[in-house]
Amino acid sequence: MSRLIVISNRVSVPDKKKKDGAQGGLAVALGAALKEHRGIWFGWSGKETEVFTGDLNMQRTDGITTATIDLEPQDIDEYYNGYANRTLWPLFHFRIDLAEYERQFGSGYERVNERFATSVAPLIEPDDLVWVHDYHLLPLGKMLRDRGIKNRIGFFLHIPWPPTRLLVSLPFHERLVLTMLEYDIIGFQTREWLESFCHYVEKELGGTVDADGVIRFEDRVVKAQAFPIGIDYEEFSRAAVGDTARSAYERLVQSAEGKKVLIGVDRLDYSKGLPDRFEAYDRFLTQNAESAKDVVLLQIAPPSREAVVTYQEIRETLEGLTGSINGAHADIDWVPIRYVNRGYPRAELAGFYRASRIALVTPLRDGMNLVAKEYVAAQDPEDPGVLILSRFAGAALQLTDALMVNPHSGDEVSEAIRTALAMPKEERIRRWQGMIETVKNEDVKKWQKDFVAALKGS
Ligand code: ADP
Ligand code: F6P
Repeated sequence: MSRLIVISNRVSVPDKKKKDGAQGGLAVALGAALKEHRGIWFGWSGKETEVFTGDLNMQRTDGITTATIDLEPQDIDEYYNGYANRTLWPLFHFRIDLAEYERQFGSGYERVNERFATSVAPLIEPDDLVWVHDYHLLPLGKMLRDRGIKNRIGFFLHIPWPPTRLLVSLPFHERLVLTMLEYDIIGFQTREWLESFCHYVEKELGGTVDADGVIRFEDRVVKAQAFPIGIDYEEFSRAAVGDTARSAYERLVQSAEGKKVLIGVDRLDYSKGLPDRFEAYDRFLTQNAESAKDVVLLQIAPPSREAVVTYQEIRETLEGLTGSINGAHADIDWVPIRYVNRGYPRAELAGFYRASRIALVTPLRDGMNLVAKEYVAAQDPEDPGVLILSRFAGAALQLTDALMVNPHSGDEVSEAIRTALAMPKEERIRRWQGMIETVKNEDVKKWQKDFVAALKGS
């Protein structure tokens, strides 16, 4: 079996004992793929160094070999905080109003991608399969080709691909997309993002795309395909009935004192639609004053990308909204929003999901959204909760039995909360059964297997 070389911005080996729960499904998925294939996971250590040396820190943890490099403060500023998270992230989440086009961000991004390529290239052996991840590393394939790497190289984008008319606002957009045509296979979360990419290739580059997603441009042939990522269903559904989850469940149920819990779990990111969600909940409380005190919203939102101003602003906005909504509606024995800025171990999260009658997953735009799938996997089959899901999350294309909402419409979300609270058990079970089949069958192992098979060209 070929070795797999996984390359991503950060390297995070799954660690079941980890207390902060910071690693998501991606770490679990890639960890499993690497264990099966042997191989190496390469990326940034998350640490700073005064002068870049390219020295590799190789480690073997839990059957997985990792190789990491440290980056200079200027690299982190221009590549990670800059081009990745101030330019590409907002643009790819349809927020051109927030996207910043600074020339030094672009050059920092190219410099760090070159640094990644120079450091990882010597680790790649002729039969290895190379799998590059996410928007931080769009041009890496080309830089590896420039260093003589002839292996099969695949790329998977974890976030949306924007419509052509938005992408063209990015200076040098053609140059960036052209570098991507050096991959052998390009994967997207959903067919919507895939279609946007193919549209760009046809309209802006003049390439052709056939019915199987095979792109032809000059002498390049690249396959583009949708591979919806899933969760580790087996691990997560097992965790949901384990001891840790049970005590987390009881802790939440007891503290809710008979009230129905609405849960939200999201990184503190403007793409997650948190202010709109809080305002919709406020509207629900105002419009349903008689039942308001029968519910409580638990919003778990660990801080993310804190060096970026837009992330600092979203944090301030939410603190203000939480204060004003709680101030307006709370009573001596009831606070409508519990707003928590920390991570939890995954098994505890599973218990919180199971204890919640409703999950509010209302991003304004999301590549997939794994929280929606985790919520479904954690439910009690005899008495499942209701998933309220944004139609703009990639997961909406798969979880069609969710209560679908437009997250921009406070009225629609408020109405959906009312419907979910009143939903008869039979309907909750019927909707859950529709969703659990997808969550179970299209899990992370299938995602990983399908991508690797496509990467092998089989
Ligand atoms: P994104 O990749 O944009 O953060 P996803 O919903 O696809 O969004 O994935 C988020 C992952 O991070 C999920 O696996 C979720 O359980 C995890 N996560 C989010 N918030 C927390 C938290 N407070 N504690 C632990 N895990 C969290
Ligand atoms: O899902 C998008 C993503 O950027 C992943 O690549 C990353 O693991 C996750 O969100 C968390 O982001 P960050 O590494 O910037 O904290």
